[in-house]
Amino acid sequence: MRHLLTIEGVTRPELEDLLDLSDEFLNVLDRDIPKVPTLLGATVATMFFEPSTRTRLSFERAARALSADVLSFSPGTSSVTKGESLKDTALTLKAMGADLMVVRHPATGAAHRVSRWADLPVVNGGDGAHQHPTQALLDAFTLRRHFGKLDGLRVGIVGDIRHSRVARSDLQAFSTLGATVTLVAPPTLLPLDTTGWPCDTATELDGVIGDLDVVYLLRIQSERGGVSGFTSLPEYVRRFGLDDRRFRLLRDDAVIMHPGPMNRGVEIAPHIADHPRTLILDQVRNGVAARMAVLFRLMTPEARR
Ligand code: NCD
Repeated sequence: MRHLLTIEGVTRPELEDLLDLSDEFLNVLDRDIPKVPTLLGATVATMFFEPSTRTRLSFERAARALSADVLSFSPGTSSVTKGESLKDTALTLKAMGADLMVVRHPATGAAHRVSRWADLPVVNGGDGAHQHPTQALLDAFTLRRHFGKLDGLRVGIVGDIRHSRVARSDLQAFSTLGATVTLVAPPTLLPLDTTGWPCDTATELDGVIGDLDVVYLLRIQSERGGVSGFTSLPEYVRRFGLDDRRFRLLRDDAVIMHPGPMNRGVEIAPHIADHPRTLILDQVRNGVAARMAVLFRLMTPEARR
């Protein structure tokens, strides 16, 4: 694996290898000094052309826990405001010594393009509504840690599927690892065509929620037009929000996940977000270990497969 641009086509053994490595790196993060010298002298560049809290900080934390240096780029304070292109920005960071780039961009395919321009490993940190492979890894890792395996798990991904790169990536990783996935959304927020996707779809949450082991909630992606998918926010909350009544319909051992950022009071009732059966902060913590695994696989030549 030279790049991680999409989770599509990543095989079950490759995924399991990354999850096994993530377990090892989670142990590192539990040590008194949560750091190993593995990438000492290497530089990870993060190029985020869209807002981010978790993904960017998680990659930077992962890089530092492996003793790499970090070059952190934000368009708002950069020469992008003077018209500099994605290509020139990438080549500039490479000339400064970046050994790997993490790219987040609103355009589908942006990370792929950077991988062609700059001759170094590239990780897709989210491209438009297309892919977010490390989110899928950390989510699969979180489920494997909680349930022991994904085989046979019933996962409902609920919300603005149409505009969600998380839904697309998670669906592929979960199904490759043996889970059954149902995409749950109003018809206007489901993808236009899911033919060939390894999932079912449902347009009402109440009909499926009692069968699920995992309720994976998504934010309405208003920046990509998600709000045009329903008539009013109260109507969305009424039909798809995880409130007390729906919580009571859940199986006793079901868990709740969310990639963040959450909109409390919309897809999830404010107090349910803090319930012990949510894995939301586990996802964040596990994400650092999962990204350490990816950086390790892509940056240590002897470890590359
Ligand atoms: C997601 C993203 O950016 O795709 N967030 C994340 O990376 N944790 C989901 C979202 O923005 O709703």
